[in-house]
Amino acid sequence: MGPFLVITLYPGESEMIKTGIIGASGYTGAELIRLLYHHPMVEISLITSRQYAGEPLSACYPGLGHLGLTFEDHNDEGVLDQAELFFTALPHKASAGIVAKLVAKGKRVIDLSADFRFSEVSVYEEHYEEHPHPELFKEAVYGLTELYGEEVKGAKIVANPGCYPTCSIIPLYPLLKEGLISTNGIIIDAKSGVSGAGRGASQTTHFCEANESIKAYKVAAHRHTPEIEEHLSKASGSPVKVVFTPHLVPMSRGMLATIYATALNGVGRDKVEKTWRDFYNDTPFVEVTPGETLPDTAFVRGTNRCMIAVRENPSTGHLILLSVIDNLAKGASSQAVQNMNKMMGWPQDKGLKVPVLFP
Ligand SMILES: NC(=O)c1ccc[n+]([C@@H]2O[C@H](COP(=O)([O-])OP(=O)(O)OC[C@H]3O[C@@H](n4cnc5c(N)ncnc54)[C@H](OP(=O)(O)O)[C@@H]3O)[C@@H](O)[C@H]2O)c1
Repeated sequence: MGPFLVITLYPGESEMIKTGIIGASGYTGAELIRLLYHHPMVEISLITSRQYAGEPLSACYPGLGHLGLTFEDHNDEGVLDQAELFFTALPHKASAGIVAKLVAKGKRVIDLSADFRFSEVSVYEEHYEEHPHPELFKEAVYGLTELYGEEVKGAKIVANPGCYPTCSIIPLYPLLKEGLISTNGIIIDAKSGVSGAGRGASQTTHFCEANESIKAYKVAAHRHTPEIEEHLSKASGSPVKVVFTPHLVPMSRGMLATIYATALNGVGRDKVEKTWRDFYNDTPFVEVTPGETLPDTAFVRGTNRCMIAVRENPSTGHLILLSVIDNLAKGASSQAVQNMNKMMGWPQDKGLKVPVLFP
């Protein structure tokens, strides 16, 4: 008997689905194109940009020109009918209006902006601005897949988390849920590569300003603080406030959070690592860094992985948690693909088993 092939079909896997990327000229849009192009169950049937409408993808990203895609304008008649599932990769507020149009057409949407990330409209409006579609908040699920995967399955709108919240919530959530650390005095000191600011040039992200330099920004005032606090509070069952200080570092992509928390009842490294391993048992994307190696952004570049580690500081009773992700991948576009996989009932790592981009 000759060799034979076993094909496993998952629910909904019998045919390809058409996906659209709104805001495909930006960095997270380009990362979505890179990932979806290789996804076995997906066809990219629409990419949009206002600036590049009518032009080939190569006009904006020459390195992706061979994919043969052409930008359209999302405002043109019939454009939003060209796909079944959409990724909106737009600035906040611009996103909400398009998400509303898509939902009205019965489409499912994964929104990479902050527009649907909070459970309360009032929190969004306190930290962002007036929301144009507050009625849609009830349709949205926070898409930190490892925590809310079951809710993501049936969602019409998935609010893809921010990059800093993803990097911070993953290590902290299980420890607060299990009561291993104090809810008081958590400090998150985080660093991001410059692509976190998007493709549009600004003085802060200009090469001469960002290269050979590291700086804090939005100290005690970053909009990701309430997003982090909402989910840490859910984990602990009581309000959690954090000190969060973001920094810009001279690299293109990558994010490191160094987190200081007070251990309760003598909890140490072994207990924390066991808690993480048990909690993240079902996901291939969260890994406790093996042995004495500490997480490094180079270990996760271009992947959907989050690597975490803990060390003890016995003289003060602190635990020092370290967490790395790629801000454009697990912090944005590959997590969006993970959410799509959940929504479609596919294995969550479908199309995401990409090796690290190294060096
Ligand atoms: N960069 C990251 O690491 C990261 C991580 C997590 C989440 N996010 C979020 O993901 C979203 C996209 O981020 P990005 O980094 O990809 O930004 P970006 O590089 O600045 O791209 C933004 C995209 O939105 C389009 N756009 C801008 N203003 C618009 C408007 N008023 N109406 C319609 N389209 C508009 C732009 O296209 P045209 O001007 O060509 O139309 C472009 O394609 C943002 O909400 C961001 O906060 C980003």
